[in-house]
Amino acid sequence: MNALKTLNPYFLKHKKLLFWGFLFIIASNFFNIYKVQFVGKSVDEISKNLHNGFNKQVLIFVAIIVACSLLTGFFTFMMRQTIIVASRRIEYELKNKIYTHYQELSLTDYKKTTIGDLMNRLSEDVVAVRMYLGPGVMYVVNLLILLLITSFYMLKTDVSMTLYTLIPLPILSFVIYKVSSVINRKSKIMQKSQSAISTFVQDSFSGIRVVKFFAKEKYIEKNYGIKVKDYQDKALDLAKTEAYFFTIILFVIGLLNVVILLIGGQKYMNNELSVGKIADFFMYINILIWPFSMVGWVTSINQRAEASMSRINEFLDMKTDIINTVNEIHPIKGDIEFRNVSYVYPNTGIKALDNLSFKIEAGKSLAIMGKTGSGKSTIALLLCRLIDPTEGEILVDGKNLKDLNLENYRKHIGYIPQESYLFSDTIESNIGFAIDSSTHEKVVEYAKKADVHKNIIGFKDQYKTMVGERGVMLSGGQKQRICIARALIKEPSILIFDDSLSALDTETEENILQNIEKELQNRTSIIITHRESSAKRADKILNLTEIDNAEAV
Ligand SMILES: Nc1ncnc2c1ncn2[C@@H]1O[C@H](COP(=O)(O)OP(=O)(O)OP(=O)(O)O)[C@@H](O)[C@H]1O
Ligand SMILES: [Mg+2]
Repeated sequence: MNALKTLNPYFLKHKKLLFWGFLFIIASNFFNIYKVQFVGKSVDEISKNLHNGFNKQVLIFVAIIVACSLLTGFFTFMMRQTIIVASRRIEYELKNKIYTHYQELSLTDYKKTTIGDLMNRLSEDVVAVRMYLGPGVMYVVNLLILLLITSFYMLKTDVSMTLYTLIPLPILSFVIYKVSSVINRKSKIMQKSQSAISTFVQDSFSGIRVVKFFAKEKYIEKNYGIKVKDYQDKALDLAKTEAYFFTIILFVIGLLNVVILLIGGQKYMNNELSVGKIADFFMYINILIWPFSMVGWVTSINQRAEASMSRINEFLDMKTDIINTVNEIHPIKGDIEFRNVSYVYPNTGIKALDNLSFKIEAGKSLAIMGKTGSGKSTIALLLCRLIDPTEGEILVDGKNLKDLNLENYRKHIGYIPQESYLFSDTIESNIGFAIDSSTHEKVVEYAKKADVHKNIIGFKDQYKTMVGERGVMLSGGQKQRICIARALIKEPSILIFDDSLSALDTETEENILQNIEKELQNRTSIIITHRESSAKRADKILNLTEIDNAEAV
């Protein structure tokens, strides 16, 4: 249980709730067991006075039994209210911690895992850990306390009967543990098959145009059928194993009842045990059997939780290299210098930049041109410090980029990525996303600068139009211009356009450049482009093709 040790601080944090939870477990078990002896006593009382009519004593016993049952119910409720609540809170804290860590990771760290894998840590793995925190801990403690109290009463009633009935129970736990492990394994396989269906469906819906265009509906349908059949097989396989679970428990209950009847019956005939005491034993066994079965189940849950927790820990232990080490905040003017910068993508070993040096003074503009794959976007990523150079250094205002306050630096950069990405939200929120406090007027002002205002007011909901899957599908050029507005609204010191005008016709491009000319005047701007016409407006042109930067190693 090594990985699960990392949860100890969480337990400690919620120790109050857990402490009460344990008290409630004791209380609920105590009343649950305490009432049993009165069942036996009533039986004995009734059989003794069978012909004497109404018996006041029995009535008192019944009242005690009812009261105990009510108290058991109440304390069981309280037990869940404390322990399960604590487990939910820990789950919440764990989810937040994982999510915060996601946000801190650098781009290269993301490349090491897939999105599906990241999502799994947040959903499946955390749920598995919560099962350990809640039911896992609760049932184990419950069983221990129950066993202690019940054994005490059972031994008090009859020693040899106790031994005969208790010995088979750990075997039951073991068998249930084995069955549960198989169930867990098979349900995991089933889940995998299920997520394969989701991925497939999502993919074919996203690419529905391509599917129709190539007239591949039949092919997709056939593939889908294969996947669904696979899922069905896995689900049936799981159901077959699950059927054993209760069968085994019911079989053991039956077996133990026979044992009690046989041995108890014999003892009764030898006058060693009353009918009432035998009745007690039936009750004790029926109370004990579920927790014993649960322990088998919980053991397998805990194993799963451990595997999940170690996956989560592995992720949380990932240290990102792009971190902020500087507290002071400097204003960013916008002088940029690349000094012998090389960059090798760690996951592929591709050398995207080789010994690149250039300089831009604050307020000036630089156009970067070059073949595809020559490393233009890599320059943009380096400048945003989304990645750090493998060799060489980048200086901003004469300081190494690594020695600038990262958050403050990024606030001063406007980056329009090559692939426009908008969130499934309104257009206004997407543009305003870049700054902390945006107003409608400001959003409109910058939408006008990015020459997209006219398009936006053409939509029925105007600035409140939803974009993305559930909203309006925007054209490539509209998306690009919304991204430009989103970058401009930051009023950054450094603006980076990564091929951001590629989807626009020359007239619109000209419009935008004219609109933002004033904006660009006192900002350093880097314009990555394939068009001579755009490049010519810049103060300097860097042509990556000439220095033949891109070469795979
Ligand atoms: N995330 C990545 N992981 C691994 N290799 C990458 C990654 N991104 C880019 N590369 C590689 O680095 C090289 C430079 O890519 P980059 O995106 O900088 O080119 P580019 O000049 O922007 O091209 P384009 O004009 O097509 O946008 C390419 O060979 C590319 O395959
Ligand atoms: Mg690029």
